This record gives sequence, C-alpha cells and structure tokens, in this order.
Amino acid sequence: MPPWAYYLQLADGVIITDVNHRIVDVNTKYEEMTGYSRDFMVGLRANFLSSRLTPQKTYDSMKLALSGRTGWSGVFINRKRNQDLWHTNITITPVTHMNELFYIGIVRNLDQIPQGSYLSETRKMKLQNEILKVLAISCEIRDPQIEEHLQQVQLGTEKLLRAHNQRMKLYLTEEAIHHIVNASIMHDIGKSGIPEGILYKPGKLNYYERHIMETHPLIGLEIINKISQELEDDILEEELKTARHIIHYHHEKWDGTGYPAKLKETEIPFEARVVSIVDVYDALTSRRAYKDAWSKDKAVQFLREQKEISFDPELVDSFLQIV
Ligand SMILES: [Fe+2]
Ligand SMILES: [Fe+2]
Repeated sequence: MPPWAYYLQLADGVIITDVNHRIVDVNTKYEEMTGYSRDFMVGLRANFLSSRLTPQKTYDSMKLALSGRTGWSGVFINRKRNQDLWHTNITITPVTHMNELFYIGIVRNLDQIPQGSYLSETRKMKLQNEILKVLAISCEIRDPQIEEHLQQVQLGTEKLLRAHNQRMKLYLTEEAIHHIVNASIMHDIGKSGIPEGILYKPGKLNYYERHIMETHPLIGLEIINKISQELEDDILEEELKTARHIIHYHHEKWDGTGYPAKLKETEIPFEARVVSIVDVYDALTSRRAYKDAWSKDKAVQFLREQKEISFDPELVDSFLQIV
C-alpha cells in the first residue's frame, strides 16, 4: 500500500504528486471532479489542467511555499475534461515518507458555493464606491463642474460626520460613516430629469421653473428605486438605503418648510441633514455659470443664520468647527 493511501479516502478531491509535481495518484472524487480517469492522469504534470486564467502570482506563491517545505492554500482556475472552467480551492501539504518528499493536494470545488466568487471587504468597498460614482456622474454629465462638486460633498460629508461623531459622542461605526460618505455622491441624481434651461438659468427661477426644479428629489428617488430593483444585490443594499434617504430628503429644512416631504427636525433622516449642510455650503462657495462664489465668511454667516431654520443646529455647530 502506498504511504498516501489513507488520504485517498477523504471525501474531498485528493491529488498526490511527487516533488516534480508529477501526478502519482488521485482519488475517485478527483476523477469525478475533473472528468479524467486515474490511469490517464498518473504520470502527467499536475498543471495539465491549468487554464491560464490563474494569475501567475498564485503559482509563484505556491512554488515559494513548497520550496520552503511549508503548506500552501490557494485558488486555481482549471479546465475540466469537458473544457468547462473550474474554480478550485486547493491545500497542498508537503509530506516526507522514508526520505521521499511528496505533495498531498486536497481539492474543493468552489463552484458549489452558491453565487460563486469571493470578495474581500476592501474590494467590496472599492466596488461600491466606484459604482455609485459612475452612477452619479453619468446622471449629471451635462454639468462639467459636477465631478468637483460631488467630490467636495463627499469630502465635506466625511469631515462633518467625523467632527460631529466626536463632539456628540455618537459612536458611529466606520461602516456607517462609509455608507453615508459613499451615498452622499448620489444626492442630486434627479437633476438628470430637469431641463437644462432651468438647471443653468442665470438669475432667479420663476414660480413654475422653481416647481420643476423642486421635483429633482423625487425624480432621483425613482431612479434609485429602479436601480435597486434591477440590482437585487446585497453588496449595495445599505448604500442604496442611505442614498435613498439622502436623495429624497436633502432639501428638507429643520423648520419643516423644505421639500418635497416637508419633514421637520429629526423626522428628516440624519444622513440627509448632514448632506444638506455640506451641499449648500459647497454650492454657495463655488462659482457657477449662473452665479459668483460667496466668500467663506459670507457662507459661514449664512449657515449661522439658518441654524434651526434650514439646518440641524447641532450639525451646524459641528460644521463650524471644521470650516
Ligand atoms: Fe439637490
Ligand atoms: Fe449638490
């Protein structure tokens, strides 16, 4: 009986190679997984299944670990006999028996995991951020300055959240902060439904134009609802919920005279109260085709005056600490 015989009884796929990665044995499960018979595989090099889709650095890290006689785990993208691609997690353990070194590979099929691929938290966060940014910019593509404004709103939202969190001892989690910052970029996506003549009109809007302009939170809400229906994906679920609040309520006012829902005080979701201050401040202090930029002092004065009228007074106090 060969020294590795016991391993072949495992319920996972098992592949045994010699020190030169030549296959010396496989179990029935491995035959099933690959579609090749044991007789066919024995004597071949173990990489005969490789698909070229496995990154080179995976092989490099494997070779490095094995040359140091330590075990290694990783993911290979291989091809089965029927040419299907096959994602496998393999753990390779070097074992010495009677002075002879061989490798025991325990193989698991990743395709059996429902929904397939694994995303690290960092990558997931990056994806969330990028998707929302693309959405926001593409909805407002007609305004060349919009990207800068959106970036400023995101930056300001993060600063205000952190300052407020510390000052009021809110104990917001990093994740919660992240969701709000990510979603803040979406606040005006509804402006994609507003005619340019109104969006960029120099000077004051008339009664009707103002009414049309004030539909942008609801247009945005419709867009975001459509996106969530189609995505049906929990990767973005929290962001989309937060974004929905921000889009819908970023023009509500503390005293209940805002639009579209006329919510007041803490009826307005926290994230919308945060973004409304940052949004207004950036809009006031930037130059637009239809208006000049206000000085920082003038904008700060305005925020002070609007405390408890337009804005959450506590949030204004936190904001004044950071501008
Ligand atoms: Fe808006
Ligand atoms: Fe804005």
